[in-house]
Amino acid sequence: MSIRSILLSSRIARDVDTLAKSTRINESKNYIQHGKTSVYEHSLNVTKMSCAIARFTGLHVDVSSLVRGALLHDYFLYDWHIPSPAHKWHGFRHPAFAFANANRDCKLTYIESDIIRHHMFPLTLQPPKTREGLIVCIADKICAIHEMFSK
Ligand SMILES: [Fe+2]
Ligand SMILES: [Fe+2]
Repeated sequence: MSIRSILLSSRIARDVDTLAKSTRINESKNYIQHGKTSVYEHSLNVTKMSCAIARFTGLHVDVSSLVRGALLHDYFLYDWHIPSPAHKWHGFRHPAFAFANANRDCKLTYIESDIIRHHMFPLTLQPPKTREGLIVCIADKICAIHEMFSK
């Protein structure tokens, strides 16, 4: 593990700790996202993958917003496997639920809002408007596929 990776991991860990104090992000450990992966683990995976993509492509990004937005991108706080009229059409609607929850619990930057609201593109019609939003959108698909097929 390189020193950059160690620093990045500690950066993510610090941001998770900070978010855990002001949000209900720990509750997402109770909800399964794909396969055996919880929403919490999935959000961490997407955050690490997003940072790896940013580093690999050399794109200039707002690291703080990238990390916080990725950590909160699925902050919808329910088990989407249990059918309920409250979250019918989960795939299309959960970015709006996640955004509403995150916006209630945190002061979001424009980039963080973009990441959360548009990470399901192209399922939802509006594409991300920021580099960070595009990176998380791609990272989310890579992690989802990996999680669905990993044992
Ligand atoms: Fe999502
Ligand atoms: Fe996701």
